[in-house]
Amino acid sequence: MTWWRSGSIYEVYPRSFQDSDGDGIGDLRGIARRLPYLRDLGVDAVWLTPIYPSPQRDFGYDITDHCDVDPQYGTLADLDALIEAAHGNGLKLILDYVPNHTSDLHPWFTEHPDWYLWHEGGPPNNWIAVFGGPAWEQVGDRSYYHAYLPEQPDLDWRNPAVREAMYAVLRFWSARGVDGFRVDAMRQLLKDPRLRDNPPNPDYEPGMPEYDSLIPLHTTDLDEVQDIVAEMRAVIGDDRLMIAEVYAEIERLVRYYGVDGRGAHLPFNFHLLSTSWEAEAIGALVERYEAALPEGAWPNWVLGNHDRPRIASRVGPAQARVAAMLLLTLRGTPTLYYGDEIGMTDVPVQRYDFRDGARTPMQWDARGGFTSGEPWLPYGDLEINAEDSSLLPLYKRLLRLRREFSEEGYRPMHAADGVLAYARGDRIAVALNLTGEPRPLPVEGELALSTHLDGGGRGLRADEGVVLRI
Ligand code: GLC
Repeated sequence: MTWWRSGSIYEVYPRSFQDSDGDGIGDLRGIARRLPYLRDLGVDAVWLTPIYPSPQRDFGYDITDHCDVDPQYGTLADLDALIEAAHGNGLKLILDYVPNHTSDLHPWFTEHPDWYLWHEGGPPNNWIAVFGGPAWEQVGDRSYYHAYLPEQPDLDWRNPAVREAMYAVLRFWSARGVDGFRVDAMRQLLKDPRLRDNPPNPDYEPGMPEYDSLIPLHTTDLDEVQDIVAEMRAVIGDDRLMIAEVYAEIERLVRYYGVDGRGAHLPFNFHLLSTSWEAEAIGALVERYEAALPEGAWPNWVLGNHDRPRIASRVGPAQARVAAMLLLTLRGTPTLYYGDEIGMTDVPVQRYDFRDGARTPMQWDARGGFTSGEPWLPYGDLEINAEDSSLLPLYKRLLRLRREFSEEGYRPMHAADGVLAYARGDRIAVALNLTGEPRPLPVEGELALSTHLDGGGRGLRADEGVVLRI
């Protein structure tokens, strides 16, 4: 058994986790200071979103040097120290790896223009950038392709020199002792060489993001991407974890496990983020995913990330407790987003980016506790904080309890309307009441844990989830 099968992953957004020097921006030394918190929480690995030098147009996903640390966050020595301190606390450290694009200010963009996707003349087709607007930027009499911002030109992964340069990055960090990589925008790596137009999306309705007006048939998830997934995995090897960011239908998503498990260990499963919060819908999702997993593939579940609204805002504080139990009792590696374990909500702010609301500073105590200076984004409601949280103890209990049954199989159970129930192996049952009314328990058993933390076990109270020993 490898650590990541029974373990759990905690996403840190470094800019917002802990500031150590009072400039209002989180940094590596701040993260190091908070490692004991993560150890006590009971997670196994910390994934840092990009900490590399960057003009921060996309907060680190626009990189100018893949093998260094942005001075805002610290130095390479700070990162070495963080890796060591994480290991000292029994935690693994995972870095973000951004292979699809660089910053337009990366020296490569001027020194090796042929490493990017250029087209003579204006935009050759109708391709749209993920953040909206045309995906081609004209410079003089040529245009380059960017899946995201114009300041993030896409690398040309059909060019062997690009592959070599980007694989060298993986080797660089592996040699420094990191335990894995979260590969950004994996499905975007190759585009149709014939540059065919993307077809219109028949389900598009006004009000939806512009990107959704086309089906990204020729710009994402090309079959040949799988060759790169396999190559990348060969470079990462078996001793380090490879996670891939893939937004795709389940049947397409599971292909990223690769043939005979020679792909990503964990293609991120984001489907809980978009499935409606109803017992029947979630039950159907879990069964569809379990059924689609290839032989030997290990499942995983994500409840929040730096790109999506927070779970407590989506389902409300009462159901956020049920969501915690769901995430931590399903079969597969869970990924938690910082602050969700204390019930942080989206903050109504849009200062730099449309996703600011889910990226606000960690609320350590009633006064904030993130910085001695002015935080780069405002805090949310500070009544929600890590020092005085009724959700945090539930997360801790769940993270410990799940170790008892993390390897056990998943079996759906029949339950009342609005209740999601399943067994894990022969001895554990989980029943989650997704409604605001009492419901009968689907099975008798001894109460191991209630989301309410006190009492329970005779029926399901409103918004209650229980783990039972059966
Ligand atoms: C991924 C990241 C997102 C970023 C984008 C472009 O989707 O999660 O934050 O904006 O890639 O790099």
